[in-house]
Amino acid sequence: MSYIKDIALAPAGHKKVEWVKNHMPVLSALHKEVKRTQPFKGQRIALSIHLEAKTAYLCHVLKDGGAEMFITGSNPLSTQDDVAASLVESGMEVFASYGVSEDDYIRQIEAVVESQPTIIVDDGGDIINTMISRYSSLCENVIGGCEETTTGVTRLRQLGNKDALPFPMIAVNDAKCKYLFDNRYGTGQSVWDGINRTTNLVVAGKNVVVAGYGWCGKGVAMRGKGLGAQVIITEIDPIKAIEARMDGFQVMSMDQAASVGDVFITVTGCNKVIRKSHIEKMRNGALMCNAGHFNVEIDIPGLESMTKEKVQSKVNIEEFHLKSGKTVYLLAEGRLVNLAAGDGHPAEIMDLSFSLQLLSIQYLIENGHNLENKVIEVPEYIDQRVAELKLSTWGYEIDKLTEEQKRYISYLD
Ligand code: NAI
Repeated sequence: MSYIKDIALAPAGHKKVEWVKNHMPVLSALHKEVKRTQPFKGQRIALSIHLEAKTAYLCHVLKDGGAEMFITGSNPLSTQDDVAASLVESGMEVFASYGVSEDDYIRQIEAVVESQPTIIVDDGGDIINTMISRYSSLCENVIGGCEETTTGVTRLRQLGNKDALPFPMIAVNDAKCKYLFDNRYGTGQSVWDGINRTTNLVVAGKNVVVAGYGWCGKGVAMRGKGLGAQVIITEIDPIKAIEARMDGFQVMSMDQAASVGDVFITVTGCNKVIRKSHIEKMRNGALMCNAGHFNVEIDIPGLESMTKEKVQSKVNIEEFHLKSGKTVYLLAEGRLVNLAAGDGHPAEIMDLSFSLQLLSIQYLIENGHNLENKVIEVPEYIDQRVAELKLSTWGYEIDKLTEEQKRYISYLD
């Protein structure tokens, strides 16, 4: 029994899925293959990824490859109700609805867990954490799972270090075809898309503070610079700070940046990166948003406690009139701005990430029973295959080592 907003929204959802499908050629090539080979036959796949069109296409490919699908979102504000309806109409079970309360969101995660999956696909660790904490008896059915994002993988590694993983989990995020493109170019573009379509303000000439110069932060900073912003980086890692400086950005502590920034974007995976002491120093009209996985990077309870009045000025923009007399803005309730206030990463980017997911799930099914209950890297051949398929769909050729070159670089000659 699915739980969605309204099945009548399905036609609009089908159109969205059709659009992205036409821009995901690698996944489409694999789609043809799995339709024929049925590698997922007999598998029950529980999936929690931001529920929009690209995710929906991955679900179609898994279903057409033989799987029974049980789907939820990864954040109450990133679920698109029309897409959810289209999946139900296509014969999948979906438990997701835009804007649900935290309790209902947890209930939806529990619903996919109660489907007794054999494979899980997580984005931020909500399924596995629910299974470990409240459904441990169901873990024995699970061959393994895949994790999509940095924050989820960090949590899995902590569980792995304590020998607390009940089954193997593949760190899809850590494949080269994931973080080099999805985290950097995907987040880089889609964060600005979310900010720009929500605010309708100019970026050029603004001081933009990007907290965190990891793979996502690099992309956000690079694209901000391209739009004409003065980009300031805050970091805790001295090496990343040097890298940011040499890439041409200003580097400051958040304490210093707070008083000069016009726009603040957190993308660290850490909590309370922007807190009360920083907000106190901000300029009147400063705008804050988050692109890290959880809505904890900006201290929202702290912000609320400094506020005299809160006004919803536009969809996804809250205006906080502070007791100090200043006004600051928060986008998308501090949730992932590119997904809660946008459509997420471009389809061509998710083509790579979701092709990795598909092949990693296939790898788990073929090898899972021989894998340890640890965090497993995506095998190199999968990364290579996805990259080669992507190049071939673009029609680009690259060079191959000659026999003489192979001997030369192996020091055999
Ligand atoms: P990363 O590990 O490559 O980079 C994080 C950076 O933040 C590191 O350089 C770290 O030193 C820095 N950092 C940590 N705590 C900090 C603090 N208190 N102040 C300043 N800097 C700090 O991670 P990645 O891949 O860039 O991911 C970052 C976050 O974005 C994660 O939560 C991840 O799950 C999420 N993510 C979001 C996406 C989206 O669509 N919005 C897509 C992919 C990842």
